Amino acid sequence: MLPPLGPIEAPPSLDLLGPQGPEILPLLSRPFLVLHRASSLYTARTCLLLLFDLGWEGRLRSGTTLDELCLGLPPQVRKPLAWMLPFLVSEGLLRREGPGYVLHGIPDLDLDGIRTIVHDEAPGHGVNFDLLDGVRSRIPPFFTDGKAGDALLFDLALFPLWLAYFRNDNLVYYPNNLLTLLALRQDLAPGTRLLELGAGAGSFARLAARRGTEEGWLDRIVEYRFTDLAPAFLRRAQRDLAAEVPGLPLTFQTLDLNRSLGDQGIAAGSLDVIMGINVVHVARNLETVLLDLRSRLRPGGRLILGECLKPTLEHPIYLEFFFSFIRSFTDVELDPRWRPIHGFLTPEAWVCALEHAGFTDIGTTPPPRPLMDRHPSFNVGAITARA
Ligand SMILES: C[S@@+](CC[C@H](N)C(=O)[O-])C[C@H]1O[C@@H](n2cnc3c(N)ncnc32)[C@H](O)[C@@H]1O
Repeated sequence: MLPPLGPIEAPPSLDLLGPQGPEILPLLSRPFLVLHRASSLYTARTCLLLLFDLGWEGRLRSGTTLDELCLGLPPQVRKPLAWMLPFLVSEGLLRREGPGYVLHGIPDLDLDGIRTIVHDEAPGHGVNFDLLDGVRSRIPPFFTDGKAGDALLFDLALFPLWLAYFRNDNLVYYPNNLLTLLALRQDLAPGTRLLELGAGAGSFARLAARRGTEEGWLDRIVEYRFTDLAPAFLRRAQRDLAAEVPGLPLTFQTLDLNRSLGDQGIAAGSLDVIMGINVVHVARNLETVLLDLRSRLRPGGRLILGECLKPTLEHPIYLEFFFSFIRSFTDVELDPRWRPIHGFLTPEAWVCALEHAGFTDIGTTPPPRPLMDRHPSFNVGAITARA
């Protein structure tokens, strides 16, 4: 008997998806919705199994607070645990009782059953679960020995799984790229000089090249600066992309968005578009970074950010599991106005931060409200703003 995933959300109605709705709705297919639900449940079960691996089942059964659980452990464990415990409550695997968290009964922690459902309904996505299994098996020294999460999660064994995750044929990752593409394509002027931040495995560049060729707008991009902080990603992209996407006028550069872009060779006012998918939330100081990005755009140039979005800042979303171990995600400077807590932001927090940095004409594809109020599990969007 297969474990049920619980109710699978119905897709939003077209009127909630804005003017580009007809192109967005097909993203929210039955296989996507099943995979999305399965991923959240698999992540929750993986979290609880990880806590069991660490030997904490007894403490959870008798009830424990976050403070008690952190006692005697390296300080870095607090942020992931502060995320995991409420996430486990939201998935029904722990109960909140007063200040504590309690495990009752025998929780259903079957992972194979989830894989079987996904194999039937969204074939080819087992690798997403391999990545979660990989995180669970590698991360214990983060808790026990204070080892850095980045070193544990981006080692050679897991790198191929990350590459497999950031792909356009991954139904749960593709919306990040497609929504950003829809935002870019709108208003794409001939002669566009574009810079991609955190371009990683290059899945966006591939999608832009394919769609731009099919739809006849690729030649409007006269310069595509492919940048990333990680040399491993850049080396790979440099090796593979030039041959795969000959129509894209690519250059490659190491670029850290947390350092002045001017100091890294990007001239003021020299770009028409700066875009980044799931990267600008690692800005250590969001205000400084957004001001810097604006200064590199020509007046009227566009910043386009594909980002995971949260319906409210308190609402844990499963994608935060991986990132809660990564220092660049958790150790950011907080600001009560737009970033009272680390992690993904709400659409409103992005608007507030962008306005503060002097951007205008700010919009999101698709428009986030009332969509996210009615569908809190819809957690991606492309935010566009003009310099
Ligand atoms: C979530 S991945 C996005 C991957 C990419 N969009 C793709 O489809 O392959 C985030 C990327 O941001 C990069 N990154 C992380 N911190 C960065 C920083 N401070 N400056 C620039 N890039 C950074 C990572 O190396 C990674 O490639």
